[in-house]
Parts: sequence; C-alpha cells; structure tokens
Amino acid sequence: MRLVAIGALLVPALLLAQPAKDSCVECHSVMDGPIQKPALLIKNDIHTANGLSCADCHGGDRTSDDPSVAMSKAKGFVGKPKRAAIPQLCANCHGSADFMRRYQPRQRIDQFELYKTSVHGKRLAAGDENVATCIDCHSVHDIRGVKDALSPVHPLRLPETCGRCHSDAHKMAKYGIPTDQLEHYRTSVHWAALKKGDLSAPTCASCHGNHGAKPPEVESVAAVCGSCHVLFAQLYEKSVHQPIFSAASGGGGCIVCHSNHGIQDPTTAMLVGPKAVCANCHEPGTPGAKTAAQMAQWLDGLDAALKRSSAVLTEADEDGMEVSEAQVRLGDGNENLIKARLAMHTFQPEEMHKPIEAGMAIANETLRAGQTALHEKDVRRLGLAISGFFIAITVVAIWLAIRRLEANGSGYIEPVK
Ligand code: HEC
Ligand code: HEC
Ligand code: HEC
Ligand code: HEC
Ligand code: HEC
Ligand code: HEC
Ligand code: HEC
Ligand code: HEC
Ligand code: HEC
Repeated sequence: MRLVAIGALLVPALLLAQPAKDSCVECHSVMDGPIQKPALLIKNDIHTANGLSCADCHGGDRTSDDPSVAMSKAKGFVGKPKRAAIPQLCANCHGSADFMRRYQPRQRIDQFELYKTSVHGKRLAAGDENVATCIDCHSVHDIRGVKDALSPVHPLRLPETCGRCHSDAHKMAKYGIPTDQLEHYRTSVHWAALKKGDLSAPTCASCHGNHGAKPPEVESVAAVCGSCHVLFAQLYEKSVHQPIFSAASGGGGCIVCHSNHGIQDPTTAMLVGPKAVCANCHEPGTPGAKTAAQMAQWLDGLDAALKRSSAVLTEADEDGMEVSEAQVRLGDGNENLIKARLAMHTFQPEEMHKPIEAGMAIANETLRAGQTALHEKDVRRLGLAISGFFIAITVVAIWLAIRRLEANGSGYIEPVK
C-alpha cells in the first residue's frame, strides 16, 4: 500500500523533472546557415532562461519530429513573422498583465502601447519598415535582460544601437534629418560621465524615451534637461530668456546655449570671446553683452582666487605645516563658485553677487592662512639654522680645547697597572 502511494507521488515528479521535448531546437541546431543560427543563439536568450522556446513565438508543435507536423499551420505555425507584425507578436505576452506577472510581478506591460505613440511606431503603422521595431533595439534570438551589460539596450551600448540607423546617411537620406547625433554625443560630457561609470548620465533613451521615442518638443527641452538638472531648470524657467527661447523661432531652452547631443564642459568662453554664445544675439555694447562680460569677470576672478589659495595651501601642506582646517574651508569656497554658475542662469547679475562675494571672502581668508603657515615655516627654519650655527661653534671650540690639552701633555692619564 505504502509503496504504491509513494510511487504515485514519484511518477509526476519524474515527469516534471524530465526536460520537455523540443523538436524545433533539436532539428534546427543540426541545420546549416540562417535556419541554424537561432538555435545556437537561443542559449543566451532571457526567454530560454524563463522556460520559453521557439514555438512560444513561432507557434507549431514542438513534440513532433516530423517537420510537416511540427511546422504546420494547423498547429498555429507562423514561420518568420513579417516586420510590421513583430511588435504585436512580442506584445502577445508583453502586453498581458496576467501572463507577465506570473514571471515578474512588477514588469511593465506598456511597451507596445507606448511604441504606437512614437515616431517609430507611427511610421511602421503607415508602412515604413526602415524604422526601429522591438528587435532592432533588443535583438532577436539572443534577447537579454535589459540590465545585462551585453544587452544592446544597456546604457553603454544603446548609443551605438540607435546609431546603427541614425548614423547611416544612406538609410536616413529620405527623411532629411541630421545623422550626426552619435558622433556629437560621443564628444559630450554626458558620454564621458557614463563611460566613467556614472549610470545617472543620460543616453539617447533618457532624453527621447525608449518605447515612446520622439524628439522632445521645443517647449519641453528644459523639462527633459531639468528632470536631472532640477535647480538649473527652475532658475531658467523664471529668466528673461525662457519665453523668447521657447517661441516658435526654432529655439529650444537649454540647448540654445548648450546644444543637445554634443554638450561640452561649460566655461566662461561661452560668455565672452570668439566662441561666446551670448554674442550670437547680444551685440557688443548692449546691456546683454555687458552683463555677459561682467559675469565672466566674476566667475574667472573667483576661480583664479580659489586656485591661488589652493596652490599656497598645497605647498604648505607638503612642507608639513598643519593647514587642514583651511583646506576644508576652501571646499566651501568652491561650493560658492558652483552656486554662482547656477545663479548665472537667472541672467541677472544681482543674483550672482552673494555667492561671488562669499567665495571671494573665503579665497582671501584661506590664502592668508596658507601664507601665514608658509611664513611660520620660514621662521622655524631660520631658528633652526641659527641654533645649528651655535652648536657647530661650540663643537669646534670643545675640539680645539681638547687639542690644546693634549698638546700640553696634561691630558695624559696614567694607565692603571
Ligand atoms: C525535422 C526538422 C525541423 C523541425 C522539427 C522543425 N523545423 Fe523549422 N525548419 C526546418 C527547415 C529545414 C526549414 C527551412 C525550410 C522551410 O522553410 O521549410 C525550417 C524553417 C523554419 C522557420 C523559417 C520559416 C520562414 O518562413 O522562413 C522557422 C521560423 C522555423 N522553422 C521554426 C520552427 C519551429 C518553431 C519548430 C518547432 C515547433 C520547428 N521549426 C521545427 C526544419 C525543422
Ligand atoms: C521571442 C520570440 C522568438 C523566439 C523565442 C524565437 N524566435 Fe525565431 N524569430 C523571431 C522573430 C521576431 C523573427 C523575425 C526576425 C527578423 O525579421 O529579422 C524570427 C525569425 C526566425 C527565423 C528566420 C531567420 C531568417 O533570417 O530568415 C528562423 C529560422 C527562426 N526565427 C527560428 C527560430 C528557432 C529555431 C527558435 C528556437 C531555437 C526561435 N526562432 C525562437 C522571434 C522568435
Ligand atoms: C528604440 C529602441 C527600442 C524599441 C523599438 C523597443 N525597446 Fe524595449 N527597451 C528599450 C530600452 C532603451 C529599454 C530600457 C532599458 C533600461 O531600462 O535600461 C527597454 C526596455 C524594455 C523592457 C523592460 C521593461 C521596461 O519596459 O523597461 C521590455 C520588456 C521591452 N523593452 C520590450 C519591448 C517590446 C515588446 C518592444 C516592441 C513593442 C520594444 N521593447 C521596443 C529600447 C527599445
Ligand atoms: C511567449 C511570451 C513572450 C513573447 C512572445 C515574448 N516575450 Fe519577452 N519575455 C517573456 C518573459 C516571460 C520574460 C521574462 C520575464 C521578464 O524578465 O520580464 C521576457 C523577457 C523579455 C525581456 C527582458 C525584460 C527585462 O526586464 O530585462 C525583453 C527585453 C523581452 N522579453 C523582449 C521581447 C521581444 C523583443 C519580443 C518579441 C520579439 C518578446 N520579448 C516576445 C515572454 C515573452
Ligand atoms: C532600425 C533603424 C532605427 C533604429 C535602431 C532607431 N531608429 Fe529612430 N528612427 C528611424 C527612422 C527610419 C526614423 C524616421 C525618421 C523621420 O521620420 O524623421 C526614426 C525616427 C526617430 C526620431 C524622430 C526624428 C524626427 O525628428 O523625425 C527619434 C527622436 C528617434 N528615431 C530616436 C531613436 C532612438 C533614441 C533610438 C535608440 C533608442 C532609435 N531612434 C533607434 C530608424 C531607427
Ligand atoms: C541630453 C539629451 C539628449 C540626448 C542624450 C540625446 N538627444 Fe537626441 N535630441 C535631443 C534634443 C533636445 C533634440 C532636439 C529637439 C528639438 O529640436 O525639438 C534631439 C534631436 C534628435 C533627433 C532629431 C534630429 C536632430 O538631430 O535634430 C534625433 C534623430 C535624435 N535626437 C537622436 C538621438 C540619438 C540617436 C541619441 C544617442 C546617440 C540622442 N539623440 C541623444 C536631446 C537628446
Ligand atoms: C538623465 C539625467 C540627465 C539628463 C536628462 C541631462 N543631464 Fe546633463 N548631466 C547629467 C550628469 C549625470 C552629468 C555629469 C555629472 C556632472 O558633472 O554633473 C551631466 C553633466 C552636464 C553638464 C556639465 C556639467 C559640468 O559641471 O561640467 C551640462 C552643461 C549638462 N549636463 C547639460 C544638460 C542639458 C542642456 C541637458 C538637456 C539637453 C541635460 N544636461 C540632460 C545628467 C543629465
Ligand atoms: C543663455 C545661455 C544659457 C542657457 C539658456 C542655459 N545655460 Fe547652462 N550655462 C551657460 C553658461 C554660459 C555656463 C557656464 C558658466 C561658467 O562655468 O563659466 C553654463 C553652465 C551650466 C552648467 C554647469 C555648471 C557648473 O557648475 O559647471 C550646467 C549643468 C548647465 N549650465 C545646465 C543648464 C540647463 C539644464 C539649462 C536649461 C534649464 C541651461 N543650462 C540653460 C549658459 C546657458
Ligand atoms: C538666441 C538669442 C540669445 C542668446 C544666445 C542669448 N540671449 Fe540674452 N536675450 C535675448 C533676447 C531676445 C533678450 C530680450 C531683449 C529685450 O527684451 O530687449 C535677452 C535678454 C537678456 C538680458 C536682459 C537685458 C536685456 O538685454 O534686455 C540679459 C542680461 C541677457 N539676455 C544675457 C545673456 C547672456 C549672459 C547670454 C549668454 C550666456 C545670453 N543673454 C544669450 C536673446 C539671447
């Protein structure tokens, strides 16, 4: 009785443990060329890791070794899906909350809905097959988890994934849009930060969205940048430029001065000199140009003063003087420089006054601390030199005295016998 009961429990368990038959993989992996490739790639696919296989996307009957049965329409076989049908194919699962949440309780299910709102999705629906579908961004047969470093949508790989089409002048020719986004992006502060491992820096999808990809509207550029640079956007929104730059003149918020793809490390060369962005609109001698010059002078002045203090403190520190307190204080000075650069985005000089003055005061105070330390070091050194001199004289005098005693013979001591 007992044995039978245990057997009844064991049989289903054994059946479950046995890998399900998969004639699709078995047959395709021994084929040649393009029909073999999927069966080889699929090992690394996240769908395989979740127990899914060929027939879950392509239909058909995986229990039959007979190709005419396995790949029969009667068994739901769809073959190679048409390009325009791919988003719907993926959405059969990815759009279903019931299905997806069995695997990942918090997985999003809106990719296809968003895709339909994007330039890509709208054009595909209108019959343009050049645009990106799900598999152009995620690949196919070796689809990886989006956080996987080898996934084509990983932040470090995504620019190249988008660039495969957007840098292809031939492919993009008929749309009349630029094909320099990747080239410029690769020179930007954002790509530099990303490469250094700062995953909070934006890739293409951070500004354009991934599934709802479209360029930010002119009105919303500041909002896109402002989703990360919050304080800058707040000041800019209240500035004299905001209504002007968002007017239908082709201008667009932050990017009028910073550009969009090739954002460089900002310096005062943006304010004055041959590359000044302000000069594009403010003629020399006008209030705008004067303000720009004033702002540059303040920022350069504070920057130079802080650097001088830092150099003096470093010298004192290397000479072994105690200046750590002043060095910490210098950090507050640099903080004020950052605040001044931020306040510049009001384009009102009054707003920069406070941080500039506070920064200058700290620069002067720490410079004095450094100079005092260096002076103290000199005094100590002089003191050391003088005492060294007197010690040397004393030693010579003693030595001379001993010599004289020896010469007189009175220094001789009779050995004890
Ligand atoms: C016994 C071998 C065999 C089995 C089993 C088999 N296939 Fe195929 N499959 C082939 C061959 C050969 C071709 C290429 C010739 C053709 O199109 O019929 C092919 C073609 C395909 C294609 C490309 C069709 C097209 O339109 O280009 C897909 C997709 C495919 N198989 C999926 C599957 C799936 C899914 C299964 C399991 C349900 C499966 N195959 C089972 C041998 C097999
Ligand atoms: C996640 C869904 C998915 C899974 C799983 C999947 N495929 Fe595909 N397969 C596709 C899509 C989408 C295409 C169309 C690719 C394209 O248009 O370039 C495709 C294309 C193909 C083609 C045509 C290739 C060509 O270049 O013409 C074959 C053959 C194929 N798949 C076989 C398989 C086999 C065999 C498996 C299992 C080892 C498999 N697929 C698993 C979605 C899938
Ligand atoms: C233009 C490129 C692009 C297209 C087209 C695209 N994706 Fe994505 N997808 C991405 C990026 C980028 C991510 C986010 C990666 C991250 O979070 O780091 C992503 C994330 C995902 C995720 C993870 C969950 C989530 O929503 O963040 C799934 C699932 C997914 N995509 C499925 C799809 C499906 C299904 C389609 C087609 C309807 C599709 N994708 C079309 C680029 C794309
Ligand atoms: C048969 C159902 C099914 C189909 C069809 C399907 N997927 Fe999936 N997909 C899943 C499941 C289940 C997972 C694993 C759970 C998860 O990670 O969200 C997954 C995971 C993913 C992931 C990783 C998500 C993450 O969070 O890292 C991506 C990307 C993805 N699929 C893209 C696609 C694309 C592109 C297609 C169409 C070519 C597709 N899937 C078709 C069921 C499916
Ligand atoms: C398979 C090729 C392909 C891939 C991959 C691709 N795109 Fe596109 N994309 C296009 C085509 C084609 C258009 C249509 C151009 C148009 O209508 O101006 C387009 C349009 C766009 C537009 C709208 C441009 C405009 O002003 O009309 C944006 C923004 C965009 N893509 C961003 C991206 C981003 C971001 C990625 C990567 C996450 C990406 N694309 C990946 C082909 C692609
Ligand atoms: C820091 C945000 C940001 C990043 C990162 C970014 N873009 Fe853009 N992109 C923009 C803005 C802003 C526009 C201009 C929108 C406007 O003028 O209305 C734009 C415009 C575009 C356009 C429309 C054509 C054009 O050049 O004006 C395409 C296509 C595009 N970007 C693709 C990409 C690709 C591909 C990447 C990654 C290599 C990328 N973008 C990275 C913000 C960004
Ligand atoms: C996804 C978040 C994010 C978005 C969106 C974003 N940035 Fe950035 N930005 C960063 C990060 C992270 C850095 C590098 C760290 C740093 O220096 O602050 C950076 C650096 C910068 C710098 C250089 C700062 C410095 O101190 O050298 C400028 C200028 C800049 N971004 C402007 C923009 C503009 C303009 C936009 C919109 C077109 C934008 N950013 C969109 C996150 C973002
Ligand atoms: C009218 C031109 C202009 C506009 C518009 C503008 N900026 Fe700037 N921005 C500058 C200049 C000039 C600097 C450089 C100041 C310096 O370092 O000398 C700068 C510096 C920066 C910095 C670097 C600050 C630092 O500490 O190094 C960031 C980040 C930044 N801007 C973000 C933004 C964002 C986000 C917007 C839109 C909300 C924006 N800017 C709009 C001119 C502009
Ligand atoms: C795209 C053109 C453009 C650029 C670039 C630009 N401005 Fe302006 N700015 C304007 C316009 C237009 C006004 C409004 C003039 C008016 O109302 O008389 C203005 C107003 C000002 C004002 C208020 C005083 C005045 O002239 O009315 C200041 C200050 C100013 N800008 C500073 C700057 C600085 C500093 C920069 C560079 C960081 C800069 N602007 C870049 C177009 C621009």
